[in-house]
Amino acid sequence: MRIITENAEETQKLGMALAKLVTPGDTILLNGDLGAGKTTFTQGFARALGINRPLKSPTFTLVREYQTTNFPLYHLDVYRLGEEGGADELGLEEYFGRDGVAIIEWPEFIKAAWPNDFLTITIARTSNHNEAERVVTLDATGQQSQAILEKLETIWN
Ligand SMILES: Nc1ncnc2c1ncn2[C@@H]1O[C@H](COP(=O)(O)OP(=O)(O)OP(=O)(O)O)[C@@H](O)[C@H]1O
Ligand SMILES: [Mg+2]
Repeated sequence: MRIITENAEETQKLGMALAKLVTPGDTILLNGDLGAGKTTFTQGFARALGINRPLKSPTFTLVREYQTTNFPLYHLDVYRLGEEGGADELGLEEYFGRDGVAIIEWPEFIKAAWPNDFLTITIARTSNHNEAERVVTLDATGQQSQAILEKLETIWN
């Protein structure tokens, strides 16, 4: 699934739409360069789950946990592990595929911890004149993620 967003609000709207479809155990990998819009997407996602305060990026803590009515939300940003390494000993896999929903920025740095079933979302700037345009690509790995993506396609179109 491929979506063009024209501004940050639209990317947040997409995050909100996805948040309405997830259930405990779901994992979302967020790819994209620095400043692509991963945290912006997560803001919308969190807002739809009833988290109204602005999200702080967990750059130093690696993970921030939020309580929602139905499950904990784990927001991870593991960018700094790219330089430091050592992700294997952190036990981050405890956040994935279990009681909560996990959304992860820079997931390639913790590949060993990925669960079997996950959604991959890639946000990229376009070469267009519009500075605020992004192309968002969504892919499913596993049946649970595939089902979510099919529902998202129905409600987004
Ligand atoms: N279509 C768009 N979608 C998302 N963000 C956009 C868009 N257009 C402009 N922006 C702006 O781009 C910036 C994206 O920053 P954001 O912190 O979300 O990036 P990030 O991918 O999380 O970066 P990092 O890897 O540093 O964590 C914000 O300032 C946002 O307002
Ligand atoms: Mg970010």
